[in-house]
Amino acid sequence: MAELPSNPLQHPLPDGIVPESVVARTEGRWVMLMGAMLAVMMAVMVITSVAGALHPSSNVEVVEPLTLHLGGEFVESNLGTTIEPDGSATVRLIAQQYDFVPHCVSVPVGTPVKFRLTSADVVHGFLLPNTNVNTMAVPGFVAEVRTSFAQPGEYEMPCHEFCGLGHHAMWTRVSVVPKDQFAAQGPLERTRCAKQ
Ligand code: CUA
Repeated sequence: MAELPSNPLQHPLPDGIVPESVVARTEGRWVMLMGAMLAVMMAVMVITSVAGALHPSSNVEVVEPLTLHLGGEFVESNLGTTIEPDGSATVRLIAQQYDFVPHCVSVPVGTPVKFRLTSADVVHGFLLPNTNVNTMAVPGFVAEVRTSFAQPGEYEMPCHEFCGLGHHAMWTRVSVVPKDQFAAQGPLERTRCAKQ
């Protein structure tokens, strides 16, 4: 009887067992295939972002995130819901770790609403469940989303972009209220969460 080689990988194999050299060759080919797929996907991302001019969600409107509180559109006194001369509503919000400012907003029902928001620090997300409102709040950019609410109700808005340790607790609320009730609210009532 012939002596077995000392390396167990070189022992003769029972029928049906694939030799080590074949396994290594097959694995090498799969690794090359995976590498090629990664290279293709990376190239697709780079090419489409350059050729398709991908940019932050909604519109390219820049704002200086470090001085939001000092002046301009997102100064604290200008946040919340404003009724424009044409009767539509504009809601301005700042997303920051880990809250939205203001924490709650009221908007009138049956009215075009334009949300304008930005971030003071990192990327946050803004989502009204069961509506078309779903955007990111990116520092340095103003995100704008337009919608309209057909029914009064409460919308809880979770931050849906992981933004740090407090991400899970970051949320705000939009109260859609009847027009006469909205008109009767003062600025403080429009930005507080207590039930009216
Ligand atoms: Cu802000 Cu997650």
